[in-house]
Amino acid sequence: MSEYTDNNISPLIGSKAFFQTFIMDDATSSTGSGGVQTAILGSFGQGKSTLMAWMAEYSRYMRVGSKESYISRLVHHGNILKYETSPTTVLWRCRDLDLWPVLIPANWNERIPDMPAKELALFVNENDIDDICFFCYDRDHKPIPVPNLPAIQTYTTADDLIGKIHEGSINIVLEPQKYRLSPRLCGLLAEARNEFDAGVKPDERKDDLVDIPKRGRGRPLKIKEPKDYSQHAIKSGCFWFDVTAATMAIFGNKPIMMIWDEADDFLSAASSDAHWWLININSELQRDFRKANISTVVSSHGFALLHDSAYKRATHRILLPGVKASKNTMVRYTQIISRLPKGHFIIEIQNKEFGVCKFGRIPYVIQSKIDGMKNSFRALDGDQKARIYAEYEKQWNGEQATVSKLPTVIEV
Ligand SMILES: Nc1ncnc2c1ncn2[C@@H]1O[C@H](COP(=O)(O)OP(=O)(O)O)[C@@H](O)[C@H]1O
Ligand SMILES: [Mg+2]
Repeated sequence: MSEYTDNNISPLIGSKAFFQTFIMDDATSSTGSGGVQTAILGSFGQGKSTLMAWMAEYSRYMRVGSKESYISRLVHHGNILKYETSPTTVLWRCRDLDLWPVLIPANWNERIPDMPAKELALFVNENDIDDICFFCYDRDHKPIPVPNLPAIQTYTTADDLIGKIHEGSINIVLEPQKYRLSPRLCGLLAEARNEFDAGVKPDERKDDLVDIPKRGRGRPLKIKEPKDYSQHAIKSGCFWFDVTAATMAIFGNKPIMMIWDEADDFLSAASSDAHWWLININSELQRDFRKANISTVVSSHGFALLHDSAYKRATHRILLPGVKASKNTMVRYTQIISRLPKGHFIIEIQNKEFGVCKFGRIPYVIQSKIDGMKNSFRALDGDQKARIYAEYEKQWNGEQATVSKLPTVIEV
């Protein structure tokens, strides 16, 4: 997978570590190690989203055979006939101007013909479905439909979503634009509060891997009165805490990979009140992600933006050019990271070893804009939206779409 040989950084270790991030085995069987937590760090335009798209397509779990020996054979080009794998279910956090439309099977197969795409499903919250419109810009900056967009499915709550996701497929999920905490998260929040108020600090309970971040003069904020969190205004990204809690509760330990691009808006280093507690609750849950066969892939521009738990719990860290070496990395010199050619990255396995690996670009990336998102300007007028929807309706009814032009292609 890699031919970069500068600085004695091992491409073999790099490839092995990269395979480990997206090939899973089952932690509920005696040999399996389960979910893998990966953090991808890199500055703007270094390929974080591209890498995540590859990982979404590549991710598989072992049905027959051991993960380690399978990966060893992949790295050394050995015979892999006796191994059997199946596609891992992926949940992809959909964002504005995100490249997920290349993952739509017809689009992927056109670009990467030697690697069949996974199936793809698209979900929008029931309350948002009338407002939201996915579209692209063509070369003349004219709004056009996303090529081959699948019919949109709706969900109500995190539990409802987990019940509806397609197993073995890539599920693109737009988080609710107006999110209120679910009864499950409200319950977890009240519980965490009570334990804290009773004098048991969450970090004294199990291990000391994660430092509880300090607030104000060093003490977490004490809440005097119980609050009704169900009506609390909260960042819509916190929906993903709900999704992980729902996955743990009802998905039954089946292998799943959560892909959270630019995750620092909800796994943020600085947060207030309820959000701060939710991050800690998620970090507690994350202890058990491995055993629950939940893999997570989070990306951010740097260590300082992400909450400590998000990378301290990450067993695999991918460093793309533009990231500073820090006390959190095994790589000591920033220069080593910034000298990497585009498409290469350093990957380290926590406290163990690191290597180098590379990935390719995806040709003719399609980025989807989302009209009707909270806090963003309207990009479409009523007519444009109606015209785009009419195209989708035709497509979903099995008629040939009339897209005449290719979407804008942004190449560096
Ligand atoms: N491995 C690669 N080699 C060359 N170009 C790449 C590679 N990966 C991504 N690119 C290009 O770099 C640009 C930014 O990629 P993107 O994945 O959106 O980065 P990020 O998410 O870090 O901002 C895109 O134009 C993409 O085609
Ligand atoms: Mg990106």
